[in-house]
Parts: sequence; C-alpha cells; structure tokens
Amino acid sequence: MTRIQTDVLVAGSGIAGLTFALKAAEFARVVLVTKKNRVESATNYAQGGVAAVFAQEDEFALHAGDTLLSGAGLCHRRAVEELVREGPERVRELIEWGVRFSRDGASFSLGREAGHSARRIVHAEDLTGSEIERALLAAVSAKPQIQMLQDHFLWKLAAVTEPGTLRPRCGGALVLDVPDQRWMEVECRAVLLATGGCGRLYRHTTNPEIAMGDGVAIGWEAGAAVANLEFVQFHPTALYPTGDQAFLISEAVRGEGAVIRNRGGEPFMERHHPAGSLAPRDIVARAIDAEMKRSGEPYVHLDLSDLDTERVRSRFPNILRGCAERGIRIPEEPIPVVPAAHYQCGGLLTDWDGRTSLAGLYAAGEVACTGVHGANRLASNSLLEAVVYAERAARRMEADLHAVSGVPLPSARSLPELRTEGEDPASIEERVRDVMWEDVSIVRSEERLAIARRELDGLVKLPVARDGTASGAMYARQVEFAREVARLIVRCAQRRRESRGLHFTETYPHRDSERYLRDTVLAR
Ligand code: SIN
Repeated sequence: MTRIQTDVLVAGSGIAGLTFALKAAEFARVVLVTKKNRVESATNYAQGGVAAVFAQEDEFALHAGDTLLSGAGLCHRRAVEELVREGPERVRELIEWGVRFSRDGASFSLGREAGHSARRIVHAEDLTGSEIERALLAAVSAKPQIQMLQDHFLWKLAAVTEPGTLRPRCGGALVLDVPDQRWMEVECRAVLLATGGCGRLYRHTTNPEIAMGDGVAIGWEAGAAVANLEFVQFHPTALYPTGDQAFLISEAVRGEGAVIRNRGGEPFMERHHPAGSLAPRDIVARAIDAEMKRSGEPYVHLDLSDLDTERVRSRFPNILRGCAERGIRIPEEPIPVVPAAHYQCGGLLTDWDGRTSLAGLYAAGEVACTGVHGANRLASNSLLEAVVYAERAARRMEADLHAVSGVPLPSARSLPELRTEGEDPASIEERVRDVMWEDVSIVRSEERLAIARRELDGLVKLPVARDGTASGAMYARQVEFAREVARLIVRCAQRRRESRGLHFTETYPHRDSERYLRDTVLAR
C-alpha cells in the first residue's frame, strides 16, 4: 500500500476533469486519476460541438430560452443564465489552450442542431471532442503541478471528520493502481469527480466502455445526494447495427438538411412536430421508436440526398469515413439509424459551484446535476456545461480551501480482497443492460419499472474479481457501480408519476406540473 498526499484529487480525464485540473493547478497541487488511458473519455467521441453565442443575430436570451424550453420546465434558470453568459469566454479559453475550431474566414463556422433558434455550435469539423481532448491533454502535460495517473481506478472515497464538528468531509480516496496491482491511499483536501455518465447500462449506446456510472455510485456510497436520474437521453441517430459502441451520426447532419424517413420514404417526423427531423431529441427518439415498433423494421433512414457532396466532405469527414468503412456511400445512400443511450442528464446533485451535498466533494460534467439540463439536455450544451461548471467549481474550491486544513486520513483498516468466488460479473452486466433496455428506456410504464426494480434488487451484490487480478477487480467493481446506478435510475423514474422530457411512461402519459415541477432528489 502506498500513500500520497496532495491538495486536490480529480477523477476523470474528459473535458470537465482536464479543465478543472488546469484551473486548480493555479492554486493547488493536483493528482488526476483516470481508469483507462488518458484519452478514453466520452468527450473524445463528441462530434457536435460547444453551443455558445457568437453569431451576430444570436443573443444570450435566445440560447437561454432554447435551453429552458428543451428542459421541459425543470432547468434552473440561474444555472442556465450563468451557462450561456460564461460560455463565450470559456470557448476563448479553450482556444488559448490550443483547441483549433473550424472557421469561416475570421469567424467561427457555426453549426446548427435541434432545438437551437440560431447557428451557435462551435465545432472542429465533426471531431470536436477529440480535438478538445488533444489540446487539453497537451496543456495538462505542460503543468508540473498536475500529476496524471493513468490506469488508476477510483475505488472508494474516504471521509474524515471536520475538526471541531461531527460533520463528515471527503478527505481522500482509495485508488487501485491496475498495472502494478497495488492499492494506493490518496490524502487530500478536496475531491472533484468528473467521471462522465452511464450509457453502458443500456444494450445500445454511443458511450465508450468507461461509462459505467462510477462517479454517481461512488458519490452516493459516500453519502452525496443524487437528482433527476430518470432523465436518460437517447440520441435519435446512431448507425445501425450499433455494435458494442454505436457510431454516432451527429445531429448537425440534420442541422444541414438531412431528413429522417421510414422504409417507405415518408418523412414521418413531420407528423410529430413542426420542426420535423430537427425536433427536440426526446420527441425524435420517441417517434423513431414508435415507427420501428409499428413497421417491425429494425431501423429508420437518414436521407442526406439533398446535401451537397462537397459540404458533406468538408463538414463531416469522420462520418463520411465511418459510413464508407461500413459500405454506405453518403450522401447518395441513406444511413440506417436507431436511437441509442447517449447522455445522463441527472447525476450527483450540485449547487451552481459544483459542490455536492458532501463537504469536500465536488462534481462537474456529465456526472453532475447542476440544474442546467432539466428534463432534456439541449444538443451541444454538454461540452459547454463541462467547461463552464468545471471552471466555477475550481473558483469555488479555491475559496473553500482557505478554511480547510488537511486532516490525516486514517489508514484503511482492511483492503478489498482481489480474489473471491462468486457470480460472473459479465453475466450480471449483461443482465443489467437487458433490463435497462427492455424496461427502463425510451417508453416506460409503472409495470415495467416494477419488474426492473425486482430484477435489479435480485442481482447478487457483487464480490470483486474471480481471477485475482486488479483489472478483474476493477471490472467487477464497475459492474457493481452499474447495478447501483441502474437501481437509482429506476427509483427516480418510479417517483415521477408523469411524463416530462426524457421520462415518458405509458401509465402517466401527461405532464403534471402541479405535483412534479421539481427535481427528483434521493438522499441517504
Ligand atoms: C451530436 O453531434 O449529435 C451530439 C451532440 C450532443 O450530444 O450534444
């Protein structure tokens, strides 16, 4: 067992964790742990971009209005106003850190996505996330105050008691150094979780394999409250067949004029919403789901035939390549698409400065519920939220740390066993993914939620690895996290006896604002 001391521990190497680390390095020593290699994050797969007000005809009030409308009454107005107001400054800061966004001459090339009343998506072709990740990793590497530990897995948070009070405070963590197969205790004054979301709880997802819900489960286990986990966003257009990680066909493709059609060629979205294929994501995903059930077809078509070939080549080179590799020639041929789990709108409940309900524990990015997204996230607001709220969390933490002296972390009395006999974690993971896909996805019902809850409660509490390796232990622990987060999603969904935004239940198909115009909060 090794023990290291630092000021701040960060978990996660996506856009939120890296932005936060860069900011925190201005006032603290930072250790950043990431469970895979450093580039493997949901950020890396983000195609769309960062929504921010730059166009002449755009205004903060319009961006805020679009976000509030998409959030179906549950966004926190102040959180949204801070988001849109601080957005352009954060985009400029990304450029200072080396991000190269696409340009039209001296201005940004601004894309359009569903629910936006103006062109406001700042992007790097259709590989925005990987370009941001590249630049931020380079910026982090140049900071001696940040120590990045790859293949290090955050196992558990550790609490200390604040001197002079009985209040628990997060004062460190137990980390598994996977390649060296050893435990490490990190003693620190504050922790920021930026571990991303939980798309892997679903059979079909656009998320990478790291998205197992770690941060929510770890924060919840340590005593932090969670909120709005019933709002899981399904991206309407993932390439069919989805494989292990679905290839995303960015909403920006529809923003440029692509149309969703059924097998018969009908642009059926026009029956569902005046904005047709560019209707809000929840509506498009539900309509596609209904169309597939009605027709019995396993996918619908995305028709790009009205798009200029040159434009597709320059704006969507990654999608063009991805389709070509699968034998689809765009824009001439339609792309077969299906909805897939994409984004967790709820998470660890935070205030507007990233503080969770547990002292010393902060959260930013997809793992956090800041109040920005409400019941349905507006496209390309996630990278924006990550940078704005990571920066706010850093500012807040700097002020908070003045009052925090390091409290020595008591040594862990017993360490988890790496070798245990028990149920195969892979079969439990498969079961969780099936239950969530069948019973807790785009269209829900009270009956199906009850079945899901029984199934998930019935899954044995997982031990750790059966093979005695650290990577086996990490996998088993992640499956345990996934099961716990799945249960929390079902509990939140059962509390909301109405349909709103991303939560649609056949049992209560209408909005009930008298009783449910509020967050769903679970606290220990
Ligand atoms: C997309 O490019 O369609 C994804 C953007 C997002 O999820 O915000």
